[in-house]
Amino acid sequence: MSAGLATVSYIAAIILFILSLGGLSNPESSRRGNLYGMIGMAIAVLATIVGPRVTGGGIGWIIGALLIGGSIGMYLARTVQMTQMPELVAFMHSMVGLAAMVVGFASYIDPGFTGGASPAEQSIHHMEVYIGVLIGAVTLSGSVIAFGKLSGKIGGKPLLLPGRHFVNLIGLLLVLYFGYAFLQAETAQDGMLPLIVMTVVALLFGIHMVMAIGGADMPVVVSMLNSYSGWAAAATGFMLSNDLLIVTGALVGSSGAILSYIMCAAMNRNFLSVIAGGFGSDGGTPAPKAAGSAEPVGEVSPILAAETAELLRDAKNVVIVPGYGMAVAQAQHTVFEITRFLREKGVNVRFAIHPVAGRMPGHMNVLLAEARVPYDIVMEMDEINDDFPETDVAMVIGANDIVNPAAQEDPGSPIAGMPVLEVWKAKTSIVMKRSMASGYAGVDNPLFYKDNNRMLFGDAKKMLDEVLVALKAG
Ligand code: TAP
Repeated sequence: MSAGLATVSYIAAIILFILSLGGLSNPESSRRGNLYGMIGMAIAVLATIVGPRVTGGGIGWIIGALLIGGSIGMYLARTVQMTQMPELVAFMHSMVGLAAMVVGFASYIDPGFTGGASPAEQSIHHMEVYIGVLIGAVTLSGSVIAFGKLSGKIGGKPLLLPGRHFVNLIGLLLVLYFGYAFLQAETAQDGMLPLIVMTVVALLFGIHMVMAIGGADMPVVVSMLNSYSGWAAAATGFMLSNDLLIVTGALVGSSGAILSYIMCAAMNRNFLSVIAGGFGSDGGTPAPKAAGSAEPVGEVSPILAAETAELLRDAKNVVIVPGYGMAVAQAQHTVFEITRFLREKGVNVRFAIHPVAGRMPGHMNVLLAEARVPYDIVMEMDEINDDFPETDVAMVIGANDIVNPAAQEDPGSPIAGMPVLEVWKAKTSIVMKRSMASGYAGVDNPLFYKDNNRMLFGDAKKMLDEVLVALKAG
């Protein structure tokens, strides 16, 4: 393929990526958005393989790598459970970080990159390498820790080293100092030591940054690492002088940054404070032990599936709040059946979606769309929170942190200040979960002990099946 045709293909791919992002901003157009993204990526990969920069035996290596990587990707996509998606995303971010790091080292060592270049061009390339390896290393180690936290292999409680901000500052100064030494180095051999030391500092910074984040603030870190992976890819694009990678990386980087900002605003968190670490950890009641271990501190009123069905049948306004447990139980299809039944009987049923419900942005929207719940009854938190006082039944399905009144009532709570869905203002709230265990943030939930709250204990899918049977029988 000629250089001109490759450039045209890259421009087509970039346009498709932009259209893809536009499509993904709305549930109704998200399938189309995905399709644009897939076509764009296929064009980008093809144009790169058959483009002018791949010569001779290089193509064999690329096809071999494509087959191995493609098979692993296909296997993961087929086997991964919906509930494991956030971990998979964190894993992918770590791979982008690793790639940026490895490409940085390779393009520094390989004389082919700077051979014949002027001293100014060489300095620019070295700067690109340094920045690329720096972002790549932070993304790699931060994403590995995020993977551990999301999969429960590492506790959700923030690790707060004494003088942690000072530690970060020392890290920054070391990065600047070794950056200077790296750029001053006369030969690749001289520059290798500062590059390696900076890589180690950056890896440690990534670990420290994510370890210091408290349970409920993880969504911000996940979207921030998403943004970092984009910048890492853009840095790789600069190192390789690949315009497509620069633009694509910048698209991912900036959309991830916007998402992080939206998450912070939705959770009433200051972005810089979350990055500095330790949110939800200073003073107040610490998150009890690990997530899932909060001790119950009151009496609860259990309810049966048949009684739940009766309450639903008699209601005029019902709001369903789905959470992570609905995803675990794969209960979305039964939720839809119940919704359809109630709507046919004239009940006004709507869904309330918290911005960090589940374990990834848009988690609940994806599940409800899969179950064919109409988009127009799926409301954002801000759209529906004021309607709970006029709601007869608020049905909470496998959600916990996002309906925890402690966020408003207890300034010492680790989740204090985080906006929550005010289900306790409904006439009756029903919480569907298997036990009294806490949610992701590991804090007890006073909602369970409120007078107008009922607990429907059991697996969400099983209990909803029973509710549906009782509704149809009634
Ligand atoms: P959680 O607070 O994690 O609560 C989920 C509840 O579901 C648990 O208390 C659990 O109780 C219940 N559950 C689990 N399996 C169930 C099943 N099979 N049937 C019925 N219930 C089941 O979830 P949430 O309310 O959706 O809040 C999300 C949390 O995750 C927030 O803290 C958020 O910050 C965090 N987070 C979110 C994201 C994003 S981007 N959305 C990313 C990382 C972390 P039982 O064990 O008693 O059943």
